[in-house]
Amino acid sequence: MKANAVITGASSGIGLALARNLSKKGYGLLLVARRESRLNEIAQELGNCHVFVADLSVDSECERLEKFLETYDFEIFINNAGFGECGKFNAIPLKREFSMIALNIFALHRFTKTASQLLEKKGGGYILNVASTAGLLPAGPYMATYYATKAYAASFTQAIANELENSKSKVSVSCLCPGPVDTEFNQEAHVEFALPGITAEFCANYALKQMFRRKKVIVPGRILRIGLFFGRFLPRNLLVKIAGKQQKRKIAESLSKNTD
Ligand SMILES: NC(=O)c1ccc[n+]([C@@H]2O[C@H](COP(=O)([O-])OP(=O)(O)OC[C@H]3O[C@@H](n4cnc5c(N)ncnc54)[C@H](OP(=O)(O)O)[C@@H]3O)[C@@H](O)[C@H]2O)c1
Repeated sequence: MKANAVITGASSGIGLALARNLSKKGYGLLLVARRESRLNEIAQELGNCHVFVADLSVDSECERLEKFLETYDFEIFINNAGFGECGKFNAIPLKREFSMIALNIFALHRFTKTASQLLEKKGGGYILNVASTAGLLPAGPYMATYYATKAYAASFTQAIANELENSKSKVSVSCLCPGPVDTEFNQEAHVEFALPGITAEFCANYALKQMFRRKKVIVPGRILRIGLFFGRFLPRNLLVKIAGKQQKRKIAESLSKNTD
């Protein structure tokens, strides 16, 4: 039996695919999310799982998980829970944006610190922070807050990864930056993809392979990696315009689907 892994947002999508993959590798799992019945079903399917029901956009819920982690022996921590919202900035309720910032930034930040400190004490381990390709681009009109939260996750994670490497730590932190992945993300963000997505299973498999190699930035999909490489040579202004057009297309696709 291998060690344990903690996965936030394990009730669907990329988190669930990561859970299935790590379970096959023999890891025990701590599955964290809000939907208790889903987590229980997954725990039954996989076996050797603990379920921790928590809304990680709420401070006191994060504290409760932190306390639990002090007594739970784990080798891998995956900060995956997150969501986005598409639309005009003035039309999105502030409460929704604050909840996104609390989950995508505050929770990710605090669990990176908790996990990093606990793993240092244990002698090593892995942290995987799920950002997005959105976080590697300068900005995303019509998904402004989401892009900004993921830019935070990407910048913050790369900085910590560098610090840990410089101190020759046995703890590594990697940043996963997927493009479109077929999950429940769009349902939550109220849009349709403008581009075809990869499967959550492909994303999880590639991410874990690279995480175990202690890669700092992980981008699943060759076409995406090529696109990001050439994107470096474009002016920031143009990249922002391209990102905005993509988001507008997503909104149009979902409007046309809803009126069909
Ligand atoms: N799908 C994509 O195209 C894509 C691309 C790039 C990056 N990502 C990132 O990948 C991560 C996973 O998303 P996904 O695509 O797999 O979407 P998903 O299927 O909607 O999964 C999101 C997960 O986060 C959990 N979650 C949401 N709010 C939460 C909260 N307040 N507290 C605790 N857990 C919460 C959800 O569980 P409950 O609802 O049960 O709480 C669910 O398990 C996110 O960080 C997302 O930003 C996704």
